[in-house]
Amino acid sequence: MLVAPSILSADFSQLLTEVKEVESYGADLLHIDVMDGHFVPNITIGPDVYRNLKGQVNLVFDVHLMIERPMFFAKQFIKAGADIVTFHYEAVSDVAKTIRFIRNLGSKVGISIRPKTDIVLLEEYLDDVDIVLVMSVEPGFSGQTFMESALDKIRYLSDMKKQNNYHYLIEVDGGINEQTAVMAKEAGADILVAGTYIFKAADRKAAIEGLKKL
Ligand code: DX5
Ligand code: ZN
Repeated sequence: MLVAPSILSADFSQLLTEVKEVESYGADLLHIDVMDGHFVPNITIGPDVYRNLKGQVNLVFDVHLMIERPMFFAKQFIKAGADIVTFHYEAVSDVAKTIRFIRNLGSKVGISIRPKTDIVLLEEYLDDVDIVLVMSVEPGFSGQTFMESALDKIRYLSDMKKQNNYHYLIEVDGGINEQTAVMAKEAGADILVAGTYIFKAADRKAAIEGLKKL
C-alpha cells in the first residue's frame, strides 16, 4: 500500500521537519491540498509553500487542485515541483483538454471527483490518466468522517482497470484511519491519503507503518 500524508494537517511553522519525519517513516507521496476559496470554501496552499521542500526530500509530490481554472495554474504548480497534478472533474468544462494540457507540461495527471459525482462520468477518460482520486469526504477540510459510498467507486475503478488493462492508480482521500483504510484496501485502493490520522497521531511512525502494511 502506498501512503500519502496530507500536509494540510501538519504544523506549517515546521513544515520541512514535519515532511522529513513522515518520509523517514516510509511515506511514499506527499499530498498537497490546494484550495482557492471558490471551488471549495477554504483557502490553503500555493506553489511557494512547497517549492523549497523539493530536493530536500525524495517523496513524490502529489498536488490535489481543488480550484477553478486548473489549466491556468497548472504550470506554476509543476514548476514548483509537482510530480502529479490532480484536478477536479467538476471544475473544468473540457476534461480531455485539461488532461492533455497537464500531461504536455510534463507532469503525471490525476482526476478527482466529489462524493456526489457519479463515477461512471469518468469512464471515457480512464485510459488517459495516471491517478483517479476518489474523495471520501466533501473536499475542503481535513478531519471529516469517511463516506462509505466511496467504496463502490473504488470497486468500480478496480474492476474497470482489470477489465481494460488500464494503468491508473486508485487513490482515496478523506477520513482514512486504521478501519477505513482496511475497507479501502479491500475495495481496491492503491494509495491512501491521510492527514489527521498521521499528523495528529501520538505515534506517527506506527500510523504510517500500519497503513503501509495493509
Ligand atoms: C480534503 C483534502 C484531504 C484532507 C484529508 O479536502 O483533500 O486531503 O487533507 O484529511 P483527513 O485525512 O484528516 O480526512
Ligand atoms: Zn486531498
